[in-house]
Amino acid sequence: MTGFEEQDYSSKLDLSIWKRIFKYMRNYKKYLIILGFVMVSVAGIDLIFPLMTRRAIDNFVVPGNVNGLGRFTIVYVLLILFQVVNVGLFIALAGKIEMGIQYDIRKLGFKKLQELSFTYYDKTPIGWIMARMTSDVRRLGETISWGLVDSAWGLTFMFGVAVVLLVLNFKLALITLSVVPILAILSMYFQKKILKAYRDVRKINSKITGSFNEGISGAQTTKTLVREEENLKEFTDLTGSMRYVSIRAAIFSALFLPIVLTLGSLGTGLALWFGGNGVLTENISYGTLVAFLSYTTLFFEPVREIARVFAELQAAQASAERVISLVEMEPDIKDNEGIRREYGDILNPKEDNWEDLKGDIEYKNVVFKYENGEKVLEKFNLKIKSGETIALVGETGSGKSTIVNLVCRFYEPSEGEILIDGIDYRKRSLSWLHSNIGYVLQSPHLFSGTIMENIKYGGNNITEMDVIRVSKLVNAHEFITKLDKGYDTQVGEGGGKLSTGQKQLISFARAIVSNPRIFVLDEATSSIDTETEKKIQDAIEKVLQDRTSFIIAHRLSTIVNSDRILVIKKGKIIEEGTHKQLIKNKGYYYDLYTNQFKEEEINSIS
Ligand SMILES: Nc1ncnc2c1ncn2[C@@H]1O[C@H](COP(=O)(O)OP(=O)(O)O)[C@@H](O)[C@H]1O
Ligand SMILES: [Mg+2]
Repeated sequence: MTGFEEQDYSSKLDLSIWKRIFKYMRNYKKYLIILGFVMVSVAGIDLIFPLMTRRAIDNFVVPGNVNGLGRFTIVYVLLILFQVVNVGLFIALAGKIEMGIQYDIRKLGFKKLQELSFTYYDKTPIGWIMARMTSDVRRLGETISWGLVDSAWGLTFMFGVAVVLLVLNFKLALITLSVVPILAILSMYFQKKILKAYRDVRKINSKITGSFNEGISGAQTTKTLVREEENLKEFTDLTGSMRYVSIRAAIFSALFLPIVLTLGSLGTGLALWFGGNGVLTENISYGTLVAFLSYTTLFFEPVREIARVFAELQAAQASAERVISLVEMEPDIKDNEGIRREYGDILNPKEDNWEDLKGDIEYKNVVFKYENGEKVLEKFNLKIKSGETIALVGETGSGKSTIVNLVCRFYEPSEGEILIDGIDYRKRSLSWLHSNIGYVLQSPHLFSGTIMENIKYGGNNITEMDVIRVSKLVNAHEFITKLDKGYDTQVGEGGGKLSTGQKQLISFARAIVSNPRIFVLDEATSSIDTETEKKIQDAIEKVLQDRTSFIIAHRLSTIVNSDRILVIKKGKIIEEGTHKQLIKNKGYYYDLYTNQFKEEEINSIS
């Protein structure tokens, strides 16, 4: 899975990436500018305080007089109040920007994830997508908002301090500031090291989590394969390197602060040494010296902050790159410009222009292969009349799901075409097709929410009456009304307390509530108890009436009544006909049927 591991980030700042990211922050431009100004003003007031102290010492303390002390105090208090308002303002603004950016980008990402096709999910681990939408987006929001806070404040403050120092005493200032370049270079170096060290820690940590995951979910397999010792060794190696990188990260962090403080003190020491002599020789006032000392100690704080922001920006740049790669990803399967103009897109469908779908389907010389896979279908031909029920049987991996996924346009043919009502389906819109298809999968997925909401998901403008009508049709109404809260029962993440069969019935109702013209059942009855299966069986018969349907099922009882049974082997139809005809043929289907019939008989006896 190379390419999806945490990449090393380039050490250079790449402005083009940030330009692209800022495109997604247009909504916050105004707030970012205001925030910048607020921070400049915070820094400005921070600058004034040592000057106030200088004035207090030189005007009141040293001469021992209190004239004008009242006015001085009022100004002092006003400054403090102003600063309090400023601080409140920047916290609120930065928070708003931080959250807003995250919200906007996540919304964009979520929208993109709805548009991307199966081919994308085939090659992208879900964990990778999750990490992009959570930690990367969070890092972007944090770095941009708080990075702006720290750097706008830090730069203004440093610049201001330097100016004040130079004005207060030019020579002394030059001497003190001589340590700044060394400090800046050292800070950058250390921040980089620290960040890299912590990134290594995170990397190994995610490997350990993964290994834990495997250890737990694969425990039984491990035992049957007697792999405990190897697993333990791998795990110990991982935790060993974890200890090594953690210690290194800690050492770097621990070294950094003392070094900055030492250099800072050196600057202060220089100021004190030369300044002290100045006071003694009477050309520097006490107030000036005290102010000077405060400024020099204050000076080194922003250097540290800015170095940190700079280093964080580099880490965030990697996040930005990954987020952009997701948000700007083009779906492999999408309608072209002309089709979108006529029929609309997923989010704004122009349903008035949609033709009715009758349900005639034709595969014409369809060739299909998955990305970096072998050909699954080679010149596949099949004609299905509207309203026909087609059953697909065959071994696992023979291509049954591929055949139906192609009809649903989850994938498109590599060569050849699929006609719906006589027209290549790429000449109609995706949403048109999808809103005309009801699809029930092997493991039903229910969304968190109530049963009512879940069934309503199946279409637009579905009323409660519709929901109850289809629930009755698929034999789900009875068990739903027996639940404490009936249709308002929360199904919870993944379906909570409902049995698989019950979830299956709900997903049945959801699939047909919009009255789709095409209905697909992919092994939906394979993991269900016999009683529910009877209900589903009965439901299927009602559901299939008058729709073009594809049924893939393990249990032959689901299949015997279909209009046509296709036996698929290695992507080819090797037998075809009704149940009766195929039994008479005594071919593959006959063997399958008699074997399973025997099996089911044995099962029902035991
Ligand atoms: N998403 C996929 N990516 C790559 N290969 C796939 C994918 N899905 C199925 N295949 C391969 O295509 C072939 C047909 O699979 P499938 O249509 O799922 O068969 P069936 O539904 O009959 O079990 C198999 O060899 C399978 O490994
Ligand atoms: Mg399958």
